[in-house]
Amino acid sequence: MSVDQRTFRKALGCFATGVTVVTAIHPETKALAGVTVSAFSSLSLQPPLVLFCLGHQTSSLDAFVKAGRFAVNILAESQRDLSNRFASRAADKWNGVQWEAWDSGAPILAGCIANLECSVVTTHQGGDHIIFVGHVDRLRQQEGGAPLVYFRGGYVDYAPPSA
Ligand SMILES: Cc1cc2nc3c(=O)[nH]c(=O)nc-3n(C[C@H](O)[C@H](O)[C@H](O)COP(=O)(O)O)c2cc1C
Repeated sequence: MSVDQRTFRKALGCFATGVTVVTAIHPETKALAGVTVSAFSSLSLQPPLVLFCLGHQTSSLDAFVKAGRFAVNILAESQRDLSNRFASRAADKWNGVQWEAWDSGAPILAGCIANLECSVVTTHQGGDHIIFVGHVDRLRQQEGGAPLVYFRGGYVDYAPPSA
């Protein structure tokens, strides 16, 4: 049985995810790269590994491939605008965005519930995406922050666990 793209997207949209903005700095041009990504996962505890998937059509793909380092910024409930901004192809994505650099220079965005700084361990081809596996070198997290949640093609309100 073949699966058509629309049905595939609809079914996969049933898997609720958090939302991240994955960032890097191009080592040659020093241009900042930032992309909204929900295809993010923890991978290993020892060593601490994570992965994310980036489409081949992403304009800043080159920065992620060449930089060898990236940051994963896990968005808070209040950061829908940031998610939409980094899901767009706007040339001025970075205007007014608050960030700092740690060791790699990859932008660490302010106000996120967690930020991870990673080194690329390996990449794999996965159909029309590339899977980046990264070693987590440094991180910070906000205690008690609520996440931005994506489900069936839209943001949904996070329901805190009941006591
Ligand atoms: C909630 C959400 C999740 C997304 N997840 C991914 C993802 O996991 N991988 C991906 O390549 N693009 C994902 N996208 C699409 C990219 O954010 C979008 O194509 C972006 O414009 C690419 O950046 P570019 O300007 O560098 O091409 C997602 C978009 C949204 C709104």
